[in-house]
Amino acid sequence: MNVILIGFMGCGKSSVGRALAKALDVPFVDTDERIESGTGRIISDIFREDGESFFRDLETAALKELLREKEPMVIAVGGGLPVRRENRELLKKLGTTVYLTAETETLIGRLRGDSARPMLAGGELRQRILTLMAARGGIYEETADIKLSTDGKKIKKIVEEIQNEIR
Ligand code: S3P
Repeated sequence: MNVILIGFMGCGKSSVGRALAKALDVPFVDTDERIESGTGRIISDIFREDGESFFRDLETAALKELLREKEPMVIAVGGGLPVRRENRELLKKLGTTVYLTAETETLIGRLRGDSARPMLAGGELRQRILTLMAARGGIYEETADIKLSTDGKKIKKIVEEIQNEIR
């Protein structure tokens, strides 16, 4: 059974995912990294050269590829991946989904100065986060099997909490 981490940019999916995979002794896969290594381009270049919807197609293709892999894994997916209905259906088939949450202030602290995330470009950071979260919050809730707050917690503690929940 795979464990999939979903949630907003900066909620800790990749760092928690890496530590969780280590604790469970399974491989860790990050869909963004897969897309970057598969295309040989960084995400901001893919967005700039081919647009968001092309990137979203790559995310769907990455999920389909992961569904064909038999070995259990911990998978972190891009913050916008669950927005597509098709992707939510693929996630359901792929395993247990954990939604990592973080307060807006925490996200601002982690995302300030970030230039690698095209969805945050243009406009004031807090407003971008609030607008995207307003559109996505319900989607994350609907997709998740387990919801977990990351605020004020060390990675080790979050990993333990996930392990307790999935046991
Ligand atoms: C995105 C989140 C990013 C990445 C891309 C788009 C989004 O992943 O997939 O920049 O739409 O929220 P992280 O959530 O890992 O930052």
